[in-house]
Amino acid sequence: MSAAQIKVFPSVPALQEAAADYVAGVLRLATPNNPIRIALSGGSTPRRMHALLAQMVGIDWRNVHIFFGDERTVGPDDPQSNYRMAHDTLLAHVPIPAANIHRMRGEDEPASAAATYSGELRESFGLHSTGLPVFDLIILGMGADGHTASLFPGTAALEAHATLVVANEVPQLNTWRITLTYPVLNAARRVLFLVAGADKAEAVSHVFDPTHDDRPPAAFVQPSAGDLLWYVDATAAAGLPEGVKHDNDTPR
Ligand code: 6PG
Repeated sequence: MSAAQIKVFPSVPALQEAAADYVAGVLRLATPNNPIRIALSGGSTPRRMHALLAQMVGIDWRNVHIFFGDERTVGPDDPQSNYRMAHDTLLAHVPIPAANIHRMRGEDEPASAAATYSGELRESFGLHSTGLPVFDLIILGMGADGHTASLFPGTAALEAHATLVVANEVPQLNTWRITLTYPVLNAARRVLFLVAGADKAEAVSHVFDPTHDDRPPAAFVQPSAGDLLWYVDATAAAGLPEGVKHDNDTPR
C-alpha cells in the first residue's frame, strides 16, 4: 500500500483544471487493445472538471468505459441523479458509445439495483463469481461528514467485504443509496479524491491523523496496489495535520 500523494491547490478552479488534466492523461491510454474503465463520483466538485474533460483532445472515447461509484435512489432524469450530472456535464458532449456507459439503476429497488450492477461489473471486467474489478481510475469526493461514494459514517456498507456493490441505508439522510464497496475501491489502479471547501477541513484532519479514534469512511480508501491521490483546495487543506507531506502548489 502506498501513502497518499496530496496536492494542494490555491482555488477550486485550479483543482478542477489539474484534475481534468490528470484524468485526461489516464483516458489517453485507451486503445482497442487497452480499454480504460473509470468510475465517476457525484457531488458538485467534479462538474467543471467534467466540462473541461469534454474539451480535451486525444481521447479515444470508443475505448473508454464509464461506471459510477455510487447513485441515489432516483431515476436517470432526476436532478439528484449522479448519472444525470455526468451525462449533462460530460457524456452528452463526447463521442462515447452508449454501450460503454454503465449506470446504476437508481430507479429500481435498491438491493436489486446493487445486484444488477455487481453482475454488470463482473461481465464488463470478465470476472467469474470471484475476483474484483480493477478500475483504471476511480474518482471520489468526500462530504463534510467524511463519507465517500455512499459509504456514510455508521452505515452497514462500511462492513461489506464480500460484495462488489451494496444498497446502503443512510438514516442520517433518511434515504438509501447504491454504492461500490471498499474491496472494489481498494482494488483500483488509481484513486483520485477531489475535495474542496472549508467545511471539509475537519474531516481532512481526521483522515490524515492515523491516531484519531473515529476516522471517517474516506480514510479507509487505501488501494492495496494502486496510486492514491488527494487533490485538495487550500480551504479544505487547512485541516491537514502538521507534518503531513504534500506537494504544495501554493504557499499556505
Ligand atoms: C454523491 C457522492 C459523494 C460526493 C461528496 C462530495 O453522490 O454525493 O458521490 O460522495 O462525492 O459528497 O461532494 P462535493 O463535491 O459536492 O463536495
